[in-house]
Amino acid sequence: MIKTTLHIDPAKTLSYIAPEIYGQFSEHLGRCIYDGIYVGEDSEIPNKNGMRNDVVDALRALKLPVLRWPGGCFADEYHWRDGIGPKEKRRRMVNTNWGGTVEDNSFGTHEFMELCRQIGCEAYFSGNVGSGTVQEFSDWVEYCNMGGISPMASERRANGQDEPFNVKYWGIGNEAWGCGGSMRAEYYADLCRQYSTYLRNYSPEHKIFKIASGANVADYHWTKTVMERAGQAVDAVSLHYYTVPHEDWQHKGSATDFTDEEYYTTLHKTLRMEELVENHSRIIRQFAGGRKIGLAVDEWGTWYDVEPGTNPGFLYQQNTMRDALVAAINLNIFNNHCDTVCMANIAQMVNVLQAMILTEGSKMVLTPTYHVFALYAAHQGAQQLESYAETSILRHDEEAVPTLHVSASRAADGKILITVANLDAAHPAEAQVLLGGVKAAAVNGTVLCGTADARNTFTAPDAVQPKALSAVLTADGFTAALPACSVAAFTVTPQ
Ligand code: AHR
Repeated sequence: MIKTTLHIDPAKTLSYIAPEIYGQFSEHLGRCIYDGIYVGEDSEIPNKNGMRNDVVDALRALKLPVLRWPGGCFADEYHWRDGIGPKEKRRRMVNTNWGGTVEDNSFGTHEFMELCRQIGCEAYFSGNVGSGTVQEFSDWVEYCNMGGISPMASERRANGQDEPFNVKYWGIGNEAWGCGGSMRAEYYADLCRQYSTYLRNYSPEHKIFKIASGANVADYHWTKTVMERAGQAVDAVSLHYYTVPHEDWQHKGSATDFTDEEYYTTLHKTLRMEELVENHSRIIRQFAGGRKIGLAVDEWGTWYDVEPGTNPGFLYQQNTMRDALVAAINLNIFNNHCDTVCMANIAQMVNVLQAMILTEGSKMVLTPTYHVFALYAAHQGAQQLESYAETSILRHDEEAVPTLHVSASRAADGKILITVANLDAAHPAEAQVLLGGVKAAAVNGTVLCGTADARNTFTAPDAVQPKALSAVLTADGFTAALPACSVAAFTVTPQ
């Protein structure tokens, strides 16, 4: 058994962990919205106002804080007026980005807000900058948030919603450098200032939070330019980084059938998030001019070849223990940089890319990634604690991967949560956890583990499940044996 030591420093903290780091993303893409979430009121699948009960219940259990919608690339072709009013009169459109399907707009602003109400989360709207207008975007904010008398508020009331929705988070475009308009950073930055001017606050108690469309991976010029020119017009700048095993986008790699080599390559690539977060954060701080401006990693996760036999435009992929480790590593990184990372949204929530939930007709499967979010849920809103793993390196070539990856936090009730991933696919690790002077009265452990390709399917939905993991208290902390390829969460109750 490999011997490792985890150091937790209860006296050192960067900040509290924004609950929004545990956010998700739902796009009009493949079977995410339709089928996966919204089945309509007349469906035989049990639903409330058209939303699947099983999916909503599963998301409520995760304490999902914020949900991004309607895209992605779809957002910059979406015209919100097409999705309000009587459903039979809503305009149909072609979803050109994702499989050329007909979008009937039966799920629009009111339906999305109903979904957020049922889940109990904040809404994050991604507005259309690429093919929309300033007026259209500004009207959407007024439609959602104006409580008094105005043309948009009247229209909302005519559509059955008296009280304003008070949507807090507004993204000013999506991937403006790509599917959101193929813009240069300089051009986008100017547009961002212009759009931001007309995205108004309609209530002092419900101030909106504006997020600029950010960089692709390591495009630091983008972040610098947006911050220099438009930083004072927004509250956060976004970042998109997907973990793709192979550079060739025609052959990204299989979600379920992969070699050991591909497993470690995937983890190595996902670890790059730390460098990206650090560098983009530095640039943001450099140009923040004394204001607190955050980094919103509003798209992240694994992206593999689609499941054989499925529509290539639908981005449906299975989810294994390898994805669980990817989720654990990224969430640890976001926790450990919570002084700047103000939000993160895994792509995507249901049936698309690194999904929490897969559906097939009336059946639903919770993926290993879902279980990691459940293990980490108590980090939301807790005080981050500095921690590090004194550990071995599994691969010594250019693709170095550490054995353990950790983050920790202290909740308002004083309990300390330590989340740790054992990246070694073959060997368990004996972890000695040092609590930096805190005397533990009790420690409870839970672990998710399996072979790297272990997964939940519609025929075996419970193959990968969290289970209890024993830990032994010591004079300065505790010890525990972490199974190979595992994600563990330990809750320490201090004396
Ligand atoms: O999540 C799938 C797509 O990836 C999004 O629509 C886009 O923003 C990104 O390129």
